[in-house]
Amino acid sequence: MFTDTHCHLYNEYYEDIDEVINRAKENDVNRYFVVGCDRKSTEEVLKVINKYPNTYGIIGYHPEVALEYTKDDIKYLEEHVKDNKVIAIGEIGLDYHYTKDCKNEQKELFEAQLSIAQKYNIPVCIHSREATQDTIDILKKYNVKGIIHSFSGSLEVANIYIKMGYKLGIGGVITFKNSNLKDVIKQIPLENIVLETDAPYLTPHPYRGTPNEPKYIKTIAEFISVLYGVKLSQVSKVTNDNIREIFDIE
Ligand code: NI
Repeated sequence: MFTDTHCHLYNEYYEDIDEVINRAKENDVNRYFVVGCDRKSTEEVLKVINKYPNTYGIIGYHPEVALEYTKDDIKYLEEHVKDNKVIAIGEIGLDYHYTKDCKNEQKELFEAQLSIAQKYNIPVCIHSREATQDTIDILKKYNVKGIIHSFSGSLEVANIYIKMGYKLGIGGVITFKNSNLKDVIKQIPLENIVLETDAPYLTPHPYRGTPNEPKYIKTIAEFISVLYGVKLSQVSKVTNDNIREIFDIE
């Protein structure tokens, strides 16, 4: 059995969530961490986790809303972090690829959410794009642990995050022909990795061009089992053990 530690499984992207979950189950993917990005999707996450078994919520505000979020949104987040089945704050972080003109606002939003995570002792799911040094510098100020979502850095950066207590979220990108992520990841023990799709984005090879779904965790797991030369059951066991190190779930 596998866990998708990062999917955007709500009506904004999927009309029929029951069908997506059924297809995932047929592929041995039986647990889903559903991630918010803004106020609207965070509210959707809370609805989904109330309705579907084996779904867990990661709620918070992505750097892309750094110029839009309100004090009330932060209050809302703080009110819901201890809700039943909410297991982390995310995805939060810095993105200098699309929105580099508001670095200070991004840092402010990021730190506001890290403060809440630290206060309530809840893990975080980190989005960092073209902002590695600032991300590391800010994370070092807080006593939190979590996942580096869609990790794509160097071996050196991987080892910095690992030393800080983070797991690396690995998804479809590792299967891309034009990505050298596999060369970095095979040098890192499996004990530092969790599986994620980021559905509906980043569909793995050979399904690129179609919407991603949690079922493709199996495709990613198969790729990793070949990369490490271990059985698929070992990938399942170790990645689920890794989840238990970070999250307060069975
Ligand atoms: Ni995402």
